[in-house]
Amino acid sequence: MWGGRFSGGPADALARLSVSVQFDWRLAPYDIAGSRAHARVLAAAGLLDPDELGQMLAALDDLEAACASGEFRPTIDDEDVHTALERGLLERLGTLGGKLRAGRSRNDQVATDLRLYLRDHARGLAVALVELADALTEQAALNVNTAAPGMTHLQHAQPVTFGHWLLAHVQPLLRDLERLRDWDSRAAISPLGSGALAGSSLPLDPAAVAKELGFTAPAPNSMDAVADRDFVAEFLFVTALIGVHLSRLGEEVVLWTSTEFGWVELDDAFATGSSIMPQKKNADIAELARGKSGRLIGGLVTVLTMLKGLPLTYDRDMQEDKEPAFDAIETLGLLLPALAGMISTMTVRVDRLAAATPVGFSLATEVADWLVRRGVPFREAHEITGQLVALCSVRGCELEDLTDDDLKTVSGHLDPSVRNVLTVESALASRTTPGSTGPGPVADQLATVQHKLDSWRQWAVEKVVPR
Ligand code: ARG
Repeated sequence: MWGGRFSGGPADALARLSVSVQFDWRLAPYDIAGSRAHARVLAAAGLLDPDELGQMLAALDDLEAACASGEFRPTIDDEDVHTALERGLLERLGTLGGKLRAGRSRNDQVATDLRLYLRDHARGLAVALVELADALTEQAALNVNTAAPGMTHLQHAQPVTFGHWLLAHVQPLLRDLERLRDWDSRAAISPLGSGALAGSSLPLDPAAVAKELGFTAPAPNSMDAVADRDFVAEFLFVTALIGVHLSRLGEEVVLWTSTEFGWVELDDAFATGSSIMPQKKNADIAELARGKSGRLIGGLVTVLTMLKGLPLTYDRDMQEDKEPAFDAIETLGLLLPALAGMISTMTVRVDRLAAATPVGFSLATEVADWLVRRGVPFREAHEITGQLVALCSVRGCELEDLTDDDLKTVSGHLDPSVRNVLTVESALASRTTPGSTGPGPVADQLATVQHKLDSWRQWAVEKVVPR
């Protein structure tokens, strides 16, 4: 590629260190799309005649087909995807193939290819996210009225519906989908036309290239265009945060399926056994969801650390941006379908959840709220209810077991009608404000979530490069 100035080829050690084609080869279809657009712009500028353009486009089509079929493969002598594809073009066109490099550099090419690749795969990621959100939403729909012991600090806090709990794992995924689309709008800027760093003296048309490749606009600054990897870092932040969300869901499934909880039973196809303990059924998918968050966070840290302190414009360090991004896509591509299958096939043990819900004085707040409705300041109501709980703890009984006399002794504000609020059903039914856990608002939330997921399904199948 740069033979003219050099007296010999690169040392083996350099070539081995420098080669990236083993991982960047997957950019080939995007590189070819960019080449097609560039060829048209060279022709419009009079740098390729119509016949040459025809030959160039035909060769690019042929090369694309040969790449797709595996007939054309990179060799160990190809440094990266760009050099490999230039070789393929030269094999097809002879010297004419060498004209495509005019006004273009691998620096603007690689930035373009990676933007296209990530924008395309962000949609695949969205499909998988929607699939998991669907699985959670369907289970939520079955459990709109299922009582569960809502927790803070992993201690019983207040009754909730299990449907509400499951939807609380859907909401972060909806935000992740929004983050992806938001990221996509910033990533949709075309670096082509920036050349190595300074733009080109040739009469190129970056706006036309941008349009052909489905970008919203060409980059406003050629130096920034080849130096910028914000789009990689930002993409990796989104995937790291998805990893964190999946990890929190995974941890809950591990708890729910434990003997101590026993709230959820996994389908055999989505659980593993033990080689030594015949009784075991393990939630490995949930554990891998927890575990893989580490590498997703690591990818973000890798790229931010690599970028920090790099002088403008392109530096070879930036070749290290790709593997973390590819790995994040592959990791989530494995994890999300497994989690979706695990969630959609799990059995919720409504009986066990119901038995666990009132345990640990989870209805105490209902008493305090009952007092507040009767004009008692909450501070005092909290104190009175605390005394009831203390009394029950000493006696080893539940709040509803206290006698009328007990109630009167603790506070003159209490009377036997307080027992009406001491059921899980009444606690849940009284949660009617939007966003709260009662069956009414949860049904509303469910409808909104289903509607949003339908619109995400449409975004996820949009084509990035119009062809
Ligand atoms: N393989 C390189 C990368 O991924 C492509 C750009 C190389 N440019 C250069 N001037 N060496 O970053």
